[in-house]
Amino acid sequence: MQVLVSVSSRHGGTRELGGRVADALRDRGYDVDQVEPDEVEHVHPYDAVVLGTSVYVGRVGLDLKDLVERQGASLRDRKVWMFWSGPATDDPEHVAAPEDVESVAHAVGVARVQVFGGRVEREALSITERSLVALVPVEPGDHRDLAAAYAWGSQIAAALS
Ligand SMILES: Cc1cc2nc3c(=O)[nH]c(=O)nc-3n(C[C@H](O)[C@H](O)[C@H](O)COP(=O)(O)O)c2cc1C
Repeated sequence: MQVLVSVSSRHGGTRELGGRVADALRDRGYDVDQVEPDEVEHVHPYDAVVLGTSVYVGRVGLDLKDLVERQGASLRDRKVWMFWSGPATDDPEHVAAPEDVESVAHAVGVARVQVFGGRVEREALSITERSLVALVPVEPGDHRDLAAAYAWGSQIAAALS
């Protein structure tokens, strides 16, 4: 069974979470392609798709939105999972998904979006991001739970089997 994992990530933190999801699926015997959203031409070769995005100022990555616009009809015909990252908390499950995340999830038929904590490395931020960071409740630090991402990937594998 072929699975696509495609993640929108500016600074690599969300991509790494997607990598752990992909690892879990591979460990269960699935054939997994990790492809950047801009590089995905078609989703029809895949039986299932995992989409991920970092969220900046409440917004889903534009490359992921473009993918959903290009391949929306095919995505709706497939099994799709989606996750986002990420709140600056070790307990992100209680953080409501931003409206933009919910609307992209709705567009591809995902009922429940998974959340993982995020990572902010102040030195890696652009000047614009540094000025924006004051406007959102974001603290520098790594709140990602890579083991939780692996566990979620294992749940997807079990659901697909
Ligand atoms: C300028 C800025 C704005 C952010 N806005 C949000 C936000 O609205 N909601 C949120 O949960 N996290 C927000 N974050 C945190 C990032 O989503 C988080 O650090 C994420 O893990 C980054 O992923 P990446 O390394 O894949 O780019 C923001 C971070 C920065 C630097």
